[in-house]
Formats: sequence, structure tokens, C-alpha cells
Amino acid sequence: MSAIDIQNLGKSFGRTEVLGGVSLAVGAGEFVAILGPSGCGKTTLLRLLAGFERPDAGSIRMGGRLVSGPGVHLPPEGRGVGVVFQTYALWPHMSVAGNVSYGLKVGGMGRAPREARTRAVLETVGLGEMAARRPADLSGGQRQRVALARCLAMEARVVLLDEPLANLDVHLRDTLEAEFADFHRRSGATMVYVTHDQAEALALADRVAVMEAGRIVQFAPPERLFREPACAMVAGFIGDGRVVEVTDLAPLGDGRAEARLLGAPVRLRCDPGERPRPRARIALHPGDLRLTEGEGVPATVTRATFRGHHLRAELAAGPDGGVSLCLNVAAPARIERGQRVTVALTDGWVLPDPSLSSLPTQGL
Ligand SMILES: Nc1ncnc2c1ncn2[C@@H]1O[C@H](COP(=O)(O)OP(=O)(O)O)[C@@H](O)[C@H]1O
Ligand SMILES: [Mg+2]
Repeated sequence: MSAIDIQNLGKSFGRTEVLGGVSLAVGAGEFVAILGPSGCGKTTLLRLLAGFERPDAGSIRMGGRLVSGPGVHLPPEGRGVGVVFQTYALWPHMSVAGNVSYGLKVGGMGRAPREARTRAVLETVGLGEMAARRPADLSGGQRQRVALARCLAMEARVVLLDEPLANLDVHLRDTLEAEFADFHRRSGATMVYVTHDQAEALALADRVAVMEAGRIVQFAPPERLFREPACAMVAGFIGDGRVVEVTDLAPLGDGRAEARLLGAPVRLRCDPGERPRPRARIALHPGDLRLTEGEGVPATVTRATFRGHHLRAELAAGPDGGVSLCLNVAAPARIERGQRVTVALTDGWVLPDPSLSSLPTQGL
């Protein structure tokens, strides 16, 4: 049984549809990220899960129980979910310990066990020394740990997090990212983690649901999103991907295909059911191209950027330079703007024909 089962969820504000036809099943103990650009509906989806909003269509089940659906709306406190927001949402007038134990008190737990559990979870998140402080006297990272401690104290089986690292410094993000992963391992809770940052989503999640304009366009493990994007949006959003056109696509029937990129023959990966097409679009990553002395695609370097271990070269290819490619060249290397090079393709993924749109967005 899924910990969370979302069926055909829809939500509009006024006449604007913000979510449409969203279906998603999250396994018990799974860490799922909801990834997409700002404004695509991530927070709305999370608020529907938490019970802060009511859907206009569809249903939500948690642990098999209907919590949102036609005529049914379980309030947030009845859902057993913990929520961690971007803006902490701590009570400013309460101490750290007070913030953590408040929910237990409301839930009717006696004073002694409440204090014992509060102490224990604050130790767990490394805030044992700060129990008496006010939220205003904590750093952003420490405040997020209080929010996590609150979820631990409530023994939430489902924890919803909305861009919890968005307000933090870069170095703190790494530390807290590790803490979220640790929290997940220790608690065994089902986590739904909303972010616009692909690096966070790919690093943390078992599976990532990529959203665009109120819909889920692909739900898959990180590596699958990277290697087999379902559409151009996912291809461009994940891992510096580029989408370029090939001609004369000839699938070999085993998940491999031959085609031409600007006239040069290339070997590609594709869906085993892929059909021959005169034109197709493919997803490439910087690691899929290399410089060659032999046969390949001629191009001009438009920009070379030092990236430590490698140089990132932006290239213009094609008759009018209209096809933009990019690749990494191991440092030290000499590669300069204006230089003429030839590149060979070592890998690439044929995007499914959008007019068929039969590729399942679910599953592994
Ligand atoms: N309460 C609301 N009333 C009207 N429009 C809203 C409301 N909440 C969100 N929206 C709109 O819904 C869209 C999705 O918002 P949101 O779920 O916050 O996106 P995200 O979290 O992905 O940035 C946006 O266009 C936003 O302006
Ligand atoms: Mg948001």
C-alpha cells in the first residue's frame, strides 16, 4: 500500500488552473522530490497534501485512508503529517523546547514524557544546548533543525518539506542536505520534498516528480531523469542538458538507434519501441561530446569557461551556427573563443515523439 496516493488532483484559484490531472503514488518510507520551476504549482500540491487547501477535483489517500476527496476533507492536524517550510514557521515567543513540545502538549501528552521526548529529539538534531533559546537567536540552519525536531517529536510518518534550504547559505545547505538524508534514514518517514533546485532533488530523492505548469511530466529515479528524459523540458532542466535535432532516425529495435547530427552519423539510445522518423530531437549532456581529430561535427567555440577540473566550452555548430552545443574539456587545456573544432558524440537520448506521448511517466 502506498503511503500517499494522489489521483487526478486538480486545483484552481479563481479561473486559473494551478494543478491539473496530478497523479502520484509514494511508497512507505520513500523520499520523493517534487521539482519544477517557480510558479509551476509545487507549493499548492504540498498544501493540498498537508490539508491547508481543498482540491477541486481528484483525491488524496494516506496509508490507504481517504483524506481529501469528494465530500471529504481531513484537517491538517488529523493527517499525522509534519511540515517544514522555507520560512521556518516557528512560534517566535516560545523557546526552542516550547516549539518542539507544543504539538505534544496539544496532543494531550503529560509533562514528564513530553519533556523527555523533547530533550531526546533536540539532542538528535544537535540542538540539546539551545533548548532555552528563542528562534530569533538561532541561525537559519538551526531553525530548520527545530522544524525537523518537531516532526521527529510528533513521530510524523509523512514529512512534507517546502524548499527548506532556499533561505540558507551555500555551505549550510550541504550540511543540512546531509541532515535531511540522515533524518530520513533514522525516522523511516515518508518524505515529500519540494524544490526548484535540481541538484538538491537529485542528491536526496529516491524518485523525482518533475512538474511543469501544474502537471507532472515525469516521475522517475534521478538517473533515469538524466539518461532518459521524457520530454524537452526535463532534458533541459536536468544536468545542463541540451536538446538538438537529428535527421534520418533509424532505430535498431534494441534501444539503440542511428541518425545524423548536422550530417554526421551518430549512435544514440532510444526507447525500444521507437519508430523510424525523418526528424527527432535528442537530449545531450556536456559529457556526451568530445573533441576529435576524426569524423564529426564542425563547430566554433563561442565561449570557454574555467571550471576547475575542466573547461566548459560553448560551441556553435551548423551552417549558420544556430545549433548550440557544449562540452567539457579536461584541464589543463587550451581552448579559446573563435577556435574551430570538430566534436564527436559518444552518447545521446532520443526524446519520445511528443505526438505519440505514450511514454509512461510513472514507475522505475
Ligand atoms: N492562494 C492563491 N491565490 C491565487 N493564486 C495562487 C494562490 N496560491 C498560488 N497561486 C498561483 O498558483 C501558481 C502556482 O503557485 P505555487 O504552488 O506557489 O508554485 P511554486 O511553489 O511551484 O512556485 C502561481 O501562479 C501562483 O501565483
Ligand atoms: Mg513554492
